[in-house]
Amino acid sequence: MAKRVNVGILGAGGSNIATNHQLPGSVAAEHIEVAALCDVNDGVYEYAKKHNAKAYADYAKMLDDAEIDMVQVATPDQFHCEHATMALESGKHVLLQKPPCLNMDELAKLRDAVGKSAGRLKVILNQRYTPLSRSIKHYLAQGTIGELREIIIKYRGRRFPIDNLDSFYMKKESGGVWLHNSLHWLDEAFFYSESLPKEINVYSTKNENGIPQCLGEGPNYWSAVFPMDKVTFLFEYNTMLLKDDMPSGMQRVLIGTEGEIRQNYGSNDLVLYRKGADETEILPLLEDEGDIDPVIKSFQLAIDDFAKEILDGTERNPKINDTLNLFELLLKGLK
Ligand SMILES: NC(=O)c1ccc[n+]([C@@H]2O[C@H](COP(=O)([O-])OP(=O)(O)OC[C@H]3O[C@@H](n4cnc5c(N)ncnc54)[C@H](O)[C@@H]3O)[C@@H](O)[C@H]2O)c1
Repeated sequence: MAKRVNVGILGAGGSNIATNHQLPGSVAAEHIEVAALCDVNDGVYEYAKKHNAKAYADYAKMLDDAEIDMVQVATPDQFHCEHATMALESGKHVLLQKPPCLNMDELAKLRDAVGKSAGRLKVILNQRYTPLSRSIKHYLAQGTIGELREIIIKYRGRRFPIDNLDSFYMKKESGGVWLHNSLHWLDEAFFYSESLPKEINVYSTKNENGIPQCLGEGPNYWSAVFPMDKVTFLFEYNTMLLKDDMPSGMQRVLIGTEGEIRQNYGSNDLVLYRKGADETEILPLLEDEGDIDPVIKSFQLAIDDFAKEILDGTERNPKINDTLNLFELLLKGLK
């Protein structure tokens, strides 16, 4: 598989996810050639010069560029569906930032565009490629806790503050942080369980206390249960924690028939509780070679997997139909 996929990155005109993570992840990827960058922001010319790539201010012009095989869409959430369908209609492969879209109508449009296009669509879900998630997966596959029965993933902390109170991200139509971020963790649970949930049961509420920059319209607490085949996924997304000095972050608990793996708030340690054992153990994390930033590495791996899929035609996980089905559950939960 010597050939490379020529990529154009949309949204690469300022200091953001496209330039800080997707661009270096693409440069490091074995099967990618960064051919072009696009942004309405003039900063794109500097980034393009530095990376020896073409610069486009007009997305439609980048889509007309026959040299480009795949487009990475990293514009704000409200443009994802439109920018992805435009690329699919022009026959390009698309690696799309989460969330793939914002409502059921857009989801139908996206599915339709995927069905009609010669190009493939993938949502970039780099959380499953982080050392932490890959390590948990590794220990599950080794049978360290027997058969998996329950996954608990919890986030508690403030939402990212948004100074512009008129921002789209503060509006109800954005779906709040629920739509903005939850797919990462639902996909992570699917990565561990390897079975798709068929339904969602969700409880949400709103605590109005806190600075307006951390609130926005809609709920700021969700607790959701996703029954899977033999596994139940409990997901709690609590952005009501408004004081800076409270413990916050992510907690993961994986309960199996022979034990439990736990990662606590503020720690990356994987603590193993073996059935019947008096002492806990710390499970070492898998290590990446070289000194690349682990988050950039997670993007590199996701981008390279999609490039390999494009080159050999074999769909890799997470498969697009599964991702869109998971996202549909999040939309149902929002409703
Ligand atoms: N996977 C992750 O960990 C992660 C982290 C952060 C952000 N994101 C996602 O990435 C997306 C981008 O987030 P961000 O914080 O980098 O946003 P941002 O607003 O900082 O950057 C978006 C860029 O898109 C450009 N843009 C918008 N419309 C355009 C158009 N029509 N043509 C050309 N350029 C256009 C803007 O000028 C801007 O430079 C969001 O959807 C967000 O959900 C993902």
